[in-house]
Amino acid sequence: MRSFSPTTFTATVSSRAPGKIILSGEQFVVLGAPAVAMAVDLYSTIDVMPSQSGRIEVTADIPLHLVGDAAKRSSVTKNQELLEPLRLAVSATLDHLASKERSMHVDANCEIPIGAGLGSSASTAVATISAVAKSRETLLDRREIFKLAFIPENYLHGHPSGVDQATCTYGGIIQFRKPSKIKAINVKRPPMILVCDSGVHRSTKALVGSVVKRSRKQTDRFRTHLEEITTLSNGVVKALRDEDDNELGSLMNRNHELLRQIGVSTPRLDRLVAKARKAGALGAKLTGAGGGGCIIALCADKKIQSNIARELRREGGTIYDVSLDKRGVL
Ligand code: PMV
Repeated sequence: MRSFSPTTFTATVSSRAPGKIILSGEQFVVLGAPAVAMAVDLYSTIDVMPSQSGRIEVTADIPLHLVGDAAKRSSVTKNQELLEPLRLAVSATLDHLASKERSMHVDANCEIPIGAGLGSSASTAVATISAVAKSRETLLDRREIFKLAFIPENYLHGHPSGVDQATCTYGGIIQFRKPSKIKAINVKRPPMILVCDSGVHRSTKALVGSVVKRSRKQTDRFRTHLEEITTLSNGVVKALRDEDDNELGSLMNRNHELLRQIGVSTPRLDRLVAKARKAGALGAKLTGAGGGGCIIALCADKKIQSNIARELRREGGTIYDVSLDKRGVL
């Protein structure tokens, strides 16, 4: 934590944080296996403004659904379920800073679709924590932001692993293991990934809950899965460092198969994954909790990427043209 010289909070201060995709290990990361995730250049931006209201006011503009390529924006100012995590992020930050002054207006603007597995909640939480601290003349270090983000994330997701907020905080590509092992993976050339939204949005909390329940009933089966995912995620790190896209693609394919076996894929996600592979993807998998949300496809070059995009659009998918965010929360 670093404090600035004290001034009065009179102007708007802002922070932004990226979204994320998971290259390997989602769901299994909640049970203790490592995951590999990449921050992407879809952002949430938080503005913190002075207010005379004497309380914390939160408003948000978050895309609820995306149809075609156009984001249908919806003002969710009154939607308590979406605003409560942000309010929790604000008060956790003020408590952390031992700040008694609670009068402020926080406005969230998020270009990451919600419920799509792209880290909208973690991104807005992380950016909120950073912006509120700035409004109190303090720059929090990344580890503090990561830890504080568990408060809103626990509220929304039950018991998240922390991989989402770690990626949105640090940026770049990371390998993550519970509770807080975060290793930056430096690559010369980031993988060319295409993201396709199935349009079916769902609750991470419910999906994670069902996997945790199943893992308690099928202990031997899950022990084997966790061993395999541990090897697989380490293989993903090696393939990224070696720029071995063929290996990375086949690990992604295997990861999708394991997610399918534990029941978090859907016929629609399987179909999008199969289409992407048929159109030339080196590998494809669902990303995030599953049950809907997005798939990711690894592309060898731009031409193949646009072929895959065309095929997936034909299936009714929405394509997000994303690239690596290297900076994390700012
Ligand atoms: O909320 P999502 O869809 O981005 O998924 C987060 C990743 C999970 O492994 C499913 C949950 C977690 O807390 O790690």
